[in-house]
Formats: sequence, C-alpha cells, structure tokens
Amino acid sequence: MKIVIIGAQWGDEGKGKIVDYLANEAQIIVRFSGGANAGHTIVIDNEEYALHLIPAGILYPDKLVVLGAGMVIDPMALFSELSMLNKRGIETTGRVFISDRAHIVLPRYIEIDKERDAARKIPIGTTGRGIGITYSMKSKRDGIRLADLSWKERMDELEEADHEFLAPYLDQLLTMTIDMASFIQHRKNAQTLFEGAQGALLDLDLGTYPYVSSGMSSASGAALGGCVGPRALDKILGVFKAYTTRVGNGPFPSEFNASSEDELCGFIRKTGREFGVTTGRPRRCGYLDLVALRYACFTNSIDALVMTHLDVYDTLSEIKACVAYRIGDKMVEDFPSSVQALNTARPVLRSFPGWKQSLADRLTYEEFPLEAMEYIEFIERFCETPIHIVSVGYERKATIIRKSPWRQ
Ligand code: IMP
Repeated sequence: MKIVIIGAQWGDEGKGKIVDYLANEAQIIVRFSGGANAGHTIVIDNEEYALHLIPAGILYPDKLVVLGAGMVIDPMALFSELSMLNKRGIETTGRVFISDRAHIVLPRYIEIDKERDAARKIPIGTTGRGIGITYSMKSKRDGIRLADLSWKERMDELEEADHEFLAPYLDQLLTMTIDMASFIQHRKNAQTLFEGAQGALLDLDLGTYPYVSSGMSSASGAALGGCVGPRALDKILGVFKAYTTRVGNGPFPSEFNASSEDELCGFIRKTGREFGVTTGRPRRCGYLDLVALRYACFTNSIDALVMTHLDVYDTLSEIKACVAYRIGDKMVEDFPSSVQALNTARPVLRSFPGWKQSLADRLTYEEFPLEAMEYIEFIERFCETPIHIVSVGYERKATIIRKSPWRQ
C-alpha cells in the first residue's frame, strides 16, 4: 500500500510525528518535496529529534528512507543531519537513498535567496535555505541533479567555488544515489509512506501565491516527487492543527488580532510551542480556518484528516473556528486565490464549548469528552472528510487512532 501524508495548512502541522507513528508499519519512507526549509520534530521517550531533510522513518532501525525526486538537497545540511543522527546512536549507513533526479542546493543559491527576499518590498520571509532559487534553476533547466555528479561535461560548467563545496561530499553522495524510479518499481508491493513537507497552502500552484514555498507540497507532488503515477497512490492523509499557524508573510484571514487577541495568541504559542524548528521564528497563530482546510481537502483528494495539537485547547472554556470570510459586503465560503481578497477577508467565527480537562491520558476516541467530540465531528461535516487520527501530545503514545490508514 502507498500512503501519502501532507500538511493541510501552512506547514508545521505535526507531520513529523504522524509519519513517525505510521512508519511503524511501513518498509519505505519517501520524502517527496522541499528541502532543508522543513523542520519535522519527533519526540521518542522524551528525546527530541529535529529533522529537516531525512524522512522521519529513519528513527526505526529497519526502515529504508528515500529523499525523493521532487526534493532540493543541500549536501552540507544533509551530512550534518546524518552526523547528528549517528552521534545519537542511529545507524544510517545503507538505509538512506537519494533520487538521482533530486536537485542540489549550492551555497550561492542560498546567498541569492537571502538577498532577493530582503530586497522585496514585502518579503516572503523565506527560510533562507536557497529553496526558491534551486527550484527556479530547475525550471530554467540550469539546475544540478544528483545524476549530474558523474556527468563530466555538465560538472565542468560549474564554478570553481561549487566544486570546492561539493568535493568533500561527492563520494558519499554517489554511494547514496539511486535510480529512484526503478527502486520504487522493484518494491512496488512494499508498504510505502510518501512524506510531504510544508503544507497544501504553501504549494507553488495551489497555495497563497506568491507567499508560498517553491516545491510541490500538495498531494499531487507525491506522485511526481515519488516517481510513481497518481493511480499508484492508495490513500491521502492531510494533517492539520486544531488551530492555524503560519511562518513568514502572506495572507492569514483567521489570524489572532494583535491587540484584542494577544493573550490568546501568547497562550497558544507557548502551549503549542509555536516557534519554527528551522529558523526559531515565532509562528503567527490564529483560529482554525475551516474554509482553508476544506479547500485543502478538495484540492488534494484527502481521504482522511489527522488532527494534531488538540490538547492545546484543554484549559479553554470556549473555542472558535472560522467558517466563512467576510470580504467587503460579501460572505465568502470558498477559499479565494487572490491574495488581495484574502488580505481583506475578515473571519466569520463559530463558537464551541471547551472541555476544560486534560486529553493526555485518553486511549480511545470514545474516552474523549463530549465537547471535544463535537468540535471534531463538526470539522468532519464541514470538510466532508473523516478525521481518523487525533494527536493529543508529542509522544508516540499520545495518538488516538480511530481508523488506521494501513487497514482497508
Ligand atoms: P522557502 O521555502 O524558504 O522559500 O520559504 C517560503 C515560505 O514558506 C516562507 O513563508 C516560509 O516561512 C514558508 N515555509 C517553508 N518551509 C516551511 C515549513 O516547513 N513550515 C512552515 N513554513 C515553511
């Protein structure tokens, strides 16, 4: 079976934890898009691991992980991540493979990324990891792929500084590089997880352009970046937080009001640890935006949702979610493509009673308080998509499975 996991908001939904949890039953975990702009946090026995490039399945000793064709890979970031894992006792030799079609991030791309964004009138607020520049080199057909490392004529076109940068990594990169299309085809019956990065609303095509990342963070990207056709993908899971966050600039209609909701924002940021894993930046926080979530469900054919961070709401007596936008004098229920429209959109909020008790030790959905069930089931109806997994804490055990995606 092939299962895709994407973020259904603006990234940071807790995909890392969910991939780690579901990887238990997988044999191969493929990261299909993005680069070291991602930050996936996984907590095992109070030990925290922050992964940027390597799929979360690496934390199990027997899984194979693949950095897919849709990725952009900074070798320095990759080897520093591998060394961090090795130092913490995780064996990576012979388990980490890189698609020959993945592109390489060069230091000069990182410099251009930072300069370009700083020079914009309204910066996107990129992570400064060279992501957009590497993807634009790819589109211009000027990029360097892993496959090119052994193509002398192509390598001769690189600058001296590029060679100096790549030299210490070349041999190891070459041993990890695979023909990913045949690797996956030869293992077509393996239980495979396709791990997305960023989120549906940061997708270059479907997201809030130009305030997006440059990779394919929607479900369709799993096919391209995973070297399979769309029909090979059996299930698509969308991970979302019980509220919404966003890092960097760009429209965010349900964002907490800086003056009137500052206290709530501070509470969510502190309780939900809403600081970027890659940049340390405080995340912008807001109400759960159901208009945006429903759009993500439809445009990604999400079969089931995974809700995370529900426990952050444990102590609140009232919870609100955005169910429509007011734009000018119109009520809008569909997610607009226009940044201008989104920037002027005011959230129409619906209120839900809080449950005012800890969800931490619940083992099944049936043990949830009625109020938490009401919130969950409203979201299911609104998005016309079931919520099959609910996460109520960072640890693997704080995961309530209503239906496992590995079962039919
Ligand atoms: P870039 O991917 O570094 O080019 O950044 C483009 C936009 O995507 C910025 O607003 C970033 O903050 C955002 N972004 C990129 N990666 C992530 C992520 O993993 N989580 C959340 N936001 C991200």
